[in-house]
Amino acid sequence: MSDLKKKILEAVNFLKQEINDTPEIGIILGSGLGGLADEIEKIKEIKYWDIPNFPVSTVKGHEGKLIFGKLSGKKVLAMQGRFHYYEGYSMQEVTFPVRVMKFLGVDTLIVSNASGGVNPRFEPGDIMLIWDHINLMPENPLRGKNDETLGPRFPSMHNAYDKDLIKLTEEVAFEHGIKVVRGVYVALQGPNLETPSEYNMVRVIGGDAVGMSTVPEVIVANHMGIKVLGVSVITNVADPYNPRMTTHEEVLEVASAAEKKLTKLIKGVLERL
Ligand code: HPA
Repeated sequence: MSDLKKKILEAVNFLKQEINDTPEIGIILGSGLGGLADEIEKIKEIKYWDIPNFPVSTVKGHEGKLIFGKLSGKKVLAMQGRFHYYEGYSMQEVTFPVRVMKFLGVDTLIVSNASGGVNPRFEPGDIMLIWDHINLMPENPLRGKNDETLGPRFPSMHNAYDKDLIKLTEEVAFEHGIKVVRGVYVALQGPNLETPSEYNMVRVIGGDAVGMSTVPEVIVANHMGIKVLGVSVITNVADPYNPRMTTHEEVLEVASAAEKKLTKLIKGVLERL
């Protein structure tokens, strides 16, 4: 058995005893978006540092715990706080929780983040359903020897973000009067925000938004056959002809202002799954 699989199974065995149930849907909450967790009827909360082989979070505003409970009648396992590559974790560490989720029974993953818009039609506070991504991170979580029992060597990324889930989310958004847009998410490693020229590059290569997370987890979810819904809150919009400064504080502020909408949307989607 591969080292990775051994580590996964250790975490899984621990969590199975803690949870004593089978979660159906995994949720990863992004920067400033942890509030959805408050809506979960909590059955069990497990701190990351108690879980064997789990990395622990270092960034302020990224709380580190796993929440098992019910949301819209569905059994969910939510990560409050995720691991970012820029924090110094390896890609294997960043994506470890997704592998654990799969072995616990999760077959659908809802992943949220905050991102910077580069599509001039976007406005701060918009919710972007990730249609596809461009991976510009310097490392790939699947690099190295492949454990075929986890997934194939060359997994397809054709439907990395499940199109049926996107359409369902659009219906739910329409019913609730929530504006959503579709877009391509470009992942850079960060942690610095982009220069005006980098924002421009992201636009030129076909991106609508740029961020520092999500793509590793989505690659691994696809590797393991988990369906993904990716939701990005556009916290700032870059205009290459009139650059203005973005700060992390602004990102968190806009993200938490959009949190209510996002919570309503995800709860609505869960009801229909
Ligand atoms: N760039 C990268 N990540 C981000 C941004 C941004 O402008 N806004 C929120 N997350």
